[in-house]
Amino acid sequence: MERTLSIVKPDGVKKNVIGEVIRRFEQKGLRVAGLRLIQLSTQDAKNFYIVHKERPFYESLTSFMSEGPIAVMVLEGDNAIATVRETMGATNFKDAAPGTIRADFATDIERNVVHGSDSVKSADYEIPFFFSSLDLH
Ligand code: RTP
Ligand code: MG
Repeated sequence: MERTLSIVKPDGVKKNVIGEVIRRFEQKGLRVAGLRLIQLSTQDAKNFYIVHKERPFYESLTSFMSEGPIAVMVLEGDNAIATVRETMGATNFKDAAPGTIRADFATDIERNVVHGSDSVKSADYEIPFFFSSLDLH
């Protein structure tokens, strides 16, 4: 059993696909263990994506991630990290496999609807960033 963090990004919330994203994860056998709708400050987004601080897209990404509410969730199940990443599709929607969330809903390399932890190490940073143990069920 593994836990991972996923986010419906501000563009996904505006496109009204929170339910659709959760449905796809549930359909893969994952269970929602925690769920919140929140808006990040730019500084919160910078702290969350700190691994990308040297990247050219860091300012733009953190501005985008704080432009509106996001739906943050913890998903639990066998191989949860890899299952979420497969369901999301490649970072660039143009490279995303047909039927993935990004292939179906993303419009831009940055505005790509969904986030998922990319490793156990990332999940161990990202889950407690948003959820205390009392918020996970
Ligand atoms: P995420 O962390 O959001 O799940 O996405 P990812 O692993 O597929 O991609 P990552 O390399 O971690 O990049 C994080 C997010 O930054 C934006 N991005 N923009 N303009 C660009 O070239 C560029 N590259 C990445 C995307 O929103 C990407 O998901
Ligand atoms: Mg990433």
